Amino acid sequence: MSPSHGHGFGKAILFGEHFVVHSLPAIVAALSHTGVVTVERITGHHELIDNCIRFPSVPKLTWDICHKPIERILKYLEITTPLKITLHGNLPIPHSGIGSSAAHMVGLSRALNKEFQLNLSEEQINQTAYQGEKEIHGNPSGIDNTAATYGGLFWFKKIKPENMTQPITTPKPIDIVLVETGKQTDTKTVIFAINKFITQNPKKTKPIFEIYKNVVSQAHQALKAGDLQLLGTLMNKNQKLLQELTISCPELDKVSSIAQNEGALGAKLTGTGRGGLAIALTPGKELQDKVSNALKKSGYAVLQTTIAQSPPPAPENFAALP
Ligand code: MEV
Repeated sequence: MSPSHGHGFGKAILFGEHFVVHSLPAIVAALSHTGVVTVERITGHHELIDNCIRFPSVPKLTWDICHKPIERILKYLEITTPLKITLHGNLPIPHSGIGSSAAHMVGLSRALNKEFQLNLSEEQINQTAYQGEKEIHGNPSGIDNTAATYGGLFWFKKIKPENMTQPITTPKPIDIVLVETGKQTDTKTVIFAINKFITQNPKKTKPIFEIYKNVVSQAHQALKAGDLQLLGTLMNKNQKLLQELTISCPELDKVSSIAQNEGALGAKLTGTGRGGLAIALTPGKELQDKVSNALKKSGYAVLQTTIAQSPPPAPENFAALP
């Protein structure tokens, strides 16, 4: 029997990491880079092979590290067959920030859907992946798996019973640089710590939430109008709010300043925070190269990519991917 494949998109949060956990809106863009998962029936025990490309110093995944979210998904789908599960694709794995766990949870859900002919809808794929995400991150908002499933650029709000997603149309694709600080971070731990900080400091955090609401709604308008200068200024403002909430760290502040000093229109942490990745707004190949080169010269690993409103194409030939 031939193996089954599934993909999920990586993502970059432009506005609202952590605020989104507290039901404020966020803006997220799926990347054209995807995590791919291949499943094959075997006899004996489950096996996990990690063939992902990764930023330097990011360790390889093993069955021991990943078994809990995978087992949760298998249980959710009532699958008991032993499987060889291979993680691959062209999404480079950083310490955190690019939605790689969600991309692979969505990839796994799609691959299982094909292998066991489950006829899951796109939303059921999204919800299946969310089970794995809950195992990894504790109380995630669902933004990562939604971006990984549907792709594109959108406004997201965590609400019950169904999260709100609204596509955003921006006049042209936008070049960005993602930069890995090299500092390890863990989403579950950081979400927990920030929740505690917010609960213990309501006088400090309430006004920050109010300012953020204004920032994110202006950012929505700036994206729609293609006003990248304003968008960059708002990213810098969002970064200041993240600093005040103790979500940034010296490493993230440093890479953001390098990017800004080289002419990036805006720069901020993206994703988990307290390590992991930052994002710089660098419209035009020349500026994107300039910012990337300066960061590389300072010893950082970068990913140059573009965000766009339409869902990025799914990889056609999985076998050709690493
Ligand atoms: C992680 O990519 C984004 C966080 O806001 C967590 C979440 O929304 O689940 C930190």
